[in-house]
Amino acid sequence: MEGKKRILTGIRPTGPLHLGHYAGALENWVGLQTRYDCCFLIADYQVSDYADDVARVREAVWEVALDWLAVGLDPERSSFVIESLIPEHAELTLWLSWFLPLGMLERNPTLKAEMEEFGRKSVPVAFFTYPVMQVANILMTRAHLVPVGEDQLPHIELTREVARRFNRQFKEVFPEPEGLVGRVPRLVGIDGRAKMSKSLGNAIYLKDTPAVVNEKVRSMYTDPTRLRATDPGHVEGNPVFLYHDVFNPNREEVADLKARYRRGSVGDVEVKEKLAAALNTFLDPIRERRARFAASPRRLGRRHRPRPKGGPDHDGIGTRSPRPRLPREISRMTAEGEISG
Ligand code: TRP
Repeated sequence: MEGKKRILTGIRPTGPLHLGHYAGALENWVGLQTRYDCCFLIADYQVSDYADDVARVREAVWEVALDWLAVGLDPERSSFVIESLIPEHAELTLWLSWFLPLGMLERNPTLKAEMEEFGRKSVPVAFFTYPVMQVANILMTRAHLVPVGEDQLPHIELTREVARRFNRQFKEVFPEPEGLVGRVPRLVGIDGRAKMSKSLGNAIYLKDTPAVVNEKVRSMYTDPTRLRATDPGHVEGNPVFLYHDVFNPNREEVADLKARYRRGSVGDVEVKEKLAAALNTFLDPIRERRARFAASPRRLGRRHRPRPKGGPDHDGIGTRSPRPRLPREISRMTAEGEISG
């Protein structure tokens, strides 16, 4: 582990993960595991839409863990952390909230959009505390790199600001983490809306069965200006072709379909059938691994044991690792006058 730079990244457990998560983040995470000391966090303190339903949050934690294992995140090599099992994340959130100006949160576009989506008159204070908690997640491990979806970049900026302020005011405790966005920063939904998301109901999940994938692809939004298969069609901005570009490794087939679509010599049905086939080929091994882990929770548990050696060498790693030291460290520095004010 020595010498490797660190990654901390995470996801809020709101249900199973979809193709947008994969192309925007997970694919990247899997590859980064060999080069970085990685910590993958399931941020169950930070769920907003049904925070009062603990059973549901627990269930979603499990779904996320299964999806992670299914795509090839490897707890033997990286650490999986369930946030609420390390309450020091909450403790550090409180310390660090003194270093984050409220104005920065009020201007944060991701946060604004989420509050609007929440839609109720009274917004819980947690909408302002959870981004600070995300800052604490990242700084707890002193991570260098945070690979995330595009929508998370404003939160990484908050983290950098807190690190700078803290380091300037006291001493160099935190690296300033960089954000890293995956191959497809934002995947459109099957309905053509800008973003694939659970709440918009326009997602294809990693665990969807082949029949469900076929049906979802069949219903996909395509080129609305094209009425007959003989009309020349638009490839650019057409979600079906966007997905072909991302998930169909047969480049020749894709090029051929595009050429014929532009000429008006292929119907939507064929283009969609080929897409569904490509998606199912991509998803098959993921579904298979998922089913294997789901069928043997004991095996999952075993794989969750803390790594025997070369293991956690930094704070906040591993669900049963020694308690993270950082919040205590900060309170000690405060008490000893290293930090004041
Ligand atoms: N807020 C992120 C999301 O909505 C999840 C998250 C929590 C996270 N803590 C993090 C991401 C730390 C990166 C780093 O998906």
